[in-house]
Amino acid sequence: MVTKCLFPVAGYGTRFLPATKAIPKEMLPVVDKPLVQYGVEEAVEAGISDIVFVTGRGKSAIENHFDRNYELEDQIQGTSKEEYLNGIRAVMEACSFSYTRQVEMKGLGHAILKGKSQVGNEPFGVILADDLCYNQDLAVLAQMVELHKKHQCSIVAIEEVPLDQTEKYGVIAGEQIEEGLYRITDMVEKPKPEDAPTNLAIIGRYLLTPDIFEIIENTPPGKNNEIQITDALLTQAKGNGVLAYKFSGKRFDCGSMDGFVDATNFYYNEVYKSQG
Ligand code: G1P
Repeated sequence: MVTKCLFPVAGYGTRFLPATKAIPKEMLPVVDKPLVQYGVEEAVEAGISDIVFVTGRGKSAIENHFDRNYELEDQIQGTSKEEYLNGIRAVMEACSFSYTRQVEMKGLGHAILKGKSQVGNEPFGVILADDLCYNQDLAVLAQMVELHKKHQCSIVAIEEVPLDQTEKYGVIAGEQIEEGLYRITDMVEKPKPEDAPTNLAIIGRYLLTPDIFEIIENTPPGKNNEIQITDALLTQAKGNGVLAYKFSGKRFDCGSMDGFVDATNFYYNEVYKSQG
């Protein structure tokens, strides 16, 4: 059973300044919902009920979002506006939330390690909320939970990217064992196109087995002098094995302006309008 999901949300979001000067980048709305809520809803769809935010200074808006706002709720109680809160209320009901601080920014591996005591000895999900994933049927993390039931190892979600973009991602190489499923043989964090083993890029969805924590503890800083989850996963791949999964659905890189605008257009036209 996978019941926990980590959300590393300590990053600054400098690419969206000045919008992110006083609000966390994860609170930027795509149409009418902050990015982080899309992520938590995806986790709930995967059967997860424990949400752990690895947070940082200036991120209190995230905690407030997943809490009551008595004054506001009192104001709109009994009016038609109350229905706007249905989604967030459902998420709050389905989950419990905990928060741990990443005091120093030492990379994604370091952020994930901060969740060690909350996660304990169970497999868990990791969602990077600025990768917004959409699938009409099963959500991406739910697809990965299904795969984990069968294979019982760590899984990363991947997609093909243009070769000139490999420097933005962890990139894998592997042997295809089923359609769209690879056993990882190599992983490189943000390689130059000429050094990339393939164009199969890791996106912000991970399903990790808990032995990853000890591996991270023994992983030296890598790219940009940060502790990289990609490096820890390569160690794990050489031991128990790690799978890379070409997910079904769309992914929007909402950490970039283009991806954010694409996501907004898509959700407005294809999701929001069709819900009436
Ligand atoms: C992180 C990971 C990278 C992965 C990416 C997915 O990078 O380090 O391997 O491909 O997330 O979004 P970041 O985007 O945080 O720089």
